[in-house]
Amino acid sequence: MDDVRTAEQREVDGISRRSFYIRAIYGIWGIIATALGLPAIVYLFLPPKARQENDWVEIGDVSKLAPNAPVEMTFRRNRVDGWKIQSEKSTAWVVKQPDNQVVAFGPQCTHLGCAYHWEESKNEFLCPCHSSLFSIDGKVVSGPAPRPLDRFKTKVEGTKLLLGQLRQPAERKA
Ligand code: FES
Repeated sequence: MDDVRTAEQREVDGISRRSFYIRAIYGIWGIIATALGLPAIVYLFLPPKARQENDWVEIGDVSKLAPNAPVEMTFRRNRVDGWKIQSEKSTAWVVKQPDNQVVAFGPQCTHLGCAYHWEESKNEFLCPCHSSLFSIDGKVVSGPAPRPLDRFKTKVEGTKLLLGQLRQPAERKA
């Protein structure tokens, strides 16, 4: 009788131990699946920081700029690509207008993206790739460029110049 009870007891013990191991294995798989799946869900459903519009970058002191004398200023900006944040060097052509308004142009020609420069002798921006010329206010004077120079959003705090996003002008060459 004792032997029978012991065998039954052993069988019950075996079942409860087996169900404990099965639950433990499912639990571990659940933890692994959550650990792997959660970052993917966050990546797919949360917008990256890069899409935030209000990331201003300080690029220089406007009190040092002379009116109608374009200056190429260098700055660094963080670019967020998914989970990667990269610090990128960029430039802007900054023009202080006679009324003290400040305009900052993107550094690339609007034709095929070459770097242009200020041509002192012509008093215009010149792109050396296909000879597009832009006036000091960024409008196309001649050449194949299809639209005026792109402009950064700008704001001045004290004497500090801050740049926002780069925008394409609405107008195009006629
Ligand atoms: S890239 Fe500037 S004119 Fe072609």
